[in-house]
Amino acid sequence: MKKDLLTLRDLTSDDLQTIFELASKLKAERGRVPFTPLAGKSVGLIFAKSSTRTRVSFEVGVGELGGRPLYLDQARMQVGRGETVADTANVLSRYLHGIVIRTFAHADVAELARVATIPVINALTDEYHPCQILADLLTIREYSGRVDKSIRMAFYGDGRSNIANSLMLAARLTGMELVIAAPKEERPREELLDGCPNIHWELDPIKAAEGVDYFYTDVWVSMGFEDEKERRMQIFRPYQVNEKLFEHARPEAKFLHCLPAHRGEEVSAGVMDDPKRSIVFDEAENRLHVQKAVMALLMK
Ligand code: CP
Ligand code: NVA
Repeated sequence: MKKDLLTLRDLTSDDLQTIFELASKLKAERGRVPFTPLAGKSVGLIFAKSSTRTRVSFEVGVGELGGRPLYLDQARMQVGRGETVADTANVLSRYLHGIVIRTFAHADVAELARVATIPVINALTDEYHPCQILADLLTIREYSGRVDKSIRMAFYGDGRSNIANSLMLAARLTGMELVIAAPKEERPREELLDGCPNIHWELDPIKAAEGVDYFYTDVWVSMGFEDEKERRMQIFRPYQVNEKLFEHARPEAKFLHCLPAHRGEEVSAGVMDDPKRSIVFDEAENRLHVQKAVMALLMK
């Protein structure tokens, strides 16, 4: 595997299988079998944005692997007062054995990884959220027994969000069929669609639902885009995932969401809270297992 996990471009399909296998094993063992590859190691968790799942699952995950997590609020670091990302990377590489970072510009994470001599894991940037999508794929694997071209997913809403971008990379990696149902103002980025026949952009939300195994949506206003709230509420309104869409999907179709969810916006309360359809809490749990696998493989 590569030193860092910045986007799913960093993984081969063999790497993905290795991650799935270790994550599933750790999940099944539930800590009964000692596994402490991070014993004596410290992992810095830099956050410039809010988080519930990512922060807690990484902090708990580092601890369960025998290591020590250090939560670092980016606003309280010197990088917030003008120290360069490169100097920060150099210094942290002398103390830590790995860095997990959630911030705004993807370029900052790329620069951190370029200079750091220790593994860097992207815990969300404006452009990508690879750890979330690894957990999503693990969840699909559990429910469908595989993640390949036989799986059809439809993503609804912001076609340029970090989630949509990462799902497109996941479709490239796994071959799954992915339809992005999005308005033209926030349609998927050309360079992520180009040359990939299993990824489609669809304006019509009903057409996008045909034969779907997994519906997926994300917030309409991502962190850092709060100024655009009014415009976003308008343009994404036709792309809510609700009961009506399920009538066009496969009978056993499931609902995924990275969370946090806004009932009545990107998803109806009926779908979000339907135990037959919504598998969002299994998906959230899988963040812990998959990230433990990634850290064990990169930081051992
Ligand atoms: N899905 C996700 O990354 O959640 P948090 O923002 O709570 O970490
Ligand atoms: N697109 C969302 C994902 C939250 C996990 C955001 O960036 O806020």
